[in-house]
Amino acid sequence: MAGMAKPHKRFVCQACGSVSSRWQGQCPDCAEWNTIVEEAPSVAASPFQAKHNLQGGGRAIEMIGLDSEVKLPDRIATGIAELDRALGGGFVEGSATLFAGDPGIGKSTLLLQAAAKLALAGKPVAYVSGEEAADQVRLRARRLGLGAAPVRLAAATSTRDILTTMSMGPPPALLVIDSIQTMHSDLIEGAPGTVSQVRASAQELIRFAKERGTAVVLVGHVTKDGSIAGPRVLEHMVDTVLSFEGERSHQYRILRAIKNRFGGTDEIGVFAMDEEGLSEVGNPSALFLTHREEGVTGATVFPALEGTRPVLVEIQALVVRLQSGATPRRSVVGWDSGRLAMVLAVLEARCGLSFSSAEVYLNVAGGYRVQDPAADLAVAAALVSALSERPVPADAVAFGEIALSGEVRPVAHAALRCKEAAKLGFERALAPASVGKEGGALRLSGFRTLGALVDHLLGRG
Ligand code: TYD
Ligand code: MG
Repeated sequence: MAGMAKPHKRFVCQACGSVSSRWQGQCPDCAEWNTIVEEAPSVAASPFQAKHNLQGGGRAIEMIGLDSEVKLPDRIATGIAELDRALGGGFVEGSATLFAGDPGIGKSTLLLQAAAKLALAGKPVAYVSGEEAADQVRLRARRLGLGAAPVRLAAATSTRDILTTMSMGPPPALLVIDSIQTMHSDLIEGAPGTVSQVRASAQELIRFAKERGTAVVLVGHVTKDGSIAGPRVLEHMVDTVLSFEGERSHQYRILRAIKNRFGGTDEIGVFAMDEEGLSEVGNPSALFLTHREEGVTGATVFPALEGTRPVLVEIQALVVRLQSGATPRRSVVGWDSGRLAMVLAVLEARCGLSFSSAEVYLNVAGGYRVQDPAADLAVAAALVSALSERPVPADAVAFGEIALSGEVRPVAHAALRCKEAAKLGFERALAPASVGKEGGALRLSGFRTLGALVDHLLGRG
């Protein structure tokens, strides 16, 4: 009969209880013969079944189309442009943000500055420190010239105490929890900092954010291997994950959105840590370039792209020949070591350059960490220059992706990269041949293969 579902037949083995949809002579599970019997289709035969059949008993939910009205979330702009940029326009009301980074990188400093700025703009802001005493935080605020900001400050570690306090009176627009690893929930056993404690505390804080419309920021420490300590799970629970990066020995800090339910993940914010805390760096391009002199070998400038933002960085390579047969070191700061191994292998296999008896050191200047795959060609140029002791022209930038075949692949936004390089006084680009007119004001040396770049740098052909 059309329109009416046929009741499912059920065949159950009387020996082992396994259920199948058709009759068989032998049970496929227990291999007994003639034990399979048809049973009447069960319409929730037992309360157990009723509970375990999720196809009934629920409420009907409203389904809407993709084209229905969308209300954009309200954002709380902090007024720190670099922070707002990384967030995609500011903190979103009722959202949870994980603010991750190495200890000492400047998380507390930046969040205190943001909190103070919002408070001075008249927003209710609360800052709870589980790591430092309230006096320590106040001293820091005073040193940053923010002592007068009406931030509500507390030193506490009990999630229940914090949420009880926050639930009295109107909820704050922004609540900073510094850090989530110091928080303790009495709903669950275990010391603060354990995965279960971190997860339970975060869950309660995130629920508060959703219910009360507060933007909650959870500070999280990162372990040495770069993962967010313990609370890797937190990344899934929060709406936004910001990572604060940089070398502690350097001044510069990059704020990167790793996950963002309300915006793009490719924008970065750039800061410099100085006496007065973190200051914004509106034009980061000039920043990562060390003072450049003619004739230095092993250095190339790479026009990296972060979201829509070009950043010029210097890539430095050093090749040290080994006399003995010891295994040579490969050491990388600021780039992926697997990617370096790949570029070295392609140089060896496709271009006949051997690094096998030499130590290779690769460094990205200024404490910057390059993630853009277009860095391959710049790295290769720096390596070839270091090996051959011939400098890469000081007025050139290099970019392009390298395939295992030795081909130089086109990359995104070549025009933007070239424009930024031209703005900073560069005159040439070593780039994929496909760049063509996108080179703009730069003189283009286009390459189809890595071999062609090597020939160019070595003055062959
Ligand atoms: P902090 O914000 O405490 O780092 P985190 O919360 O990520 O652990 O910053 C610590 C470092 O920043 C500390 O080593 C001193 C430095 N710093 C400055 O250089 N200038 C400043 O104005 C402040 C407040 C800190
Ligand atoms: Mg801190």
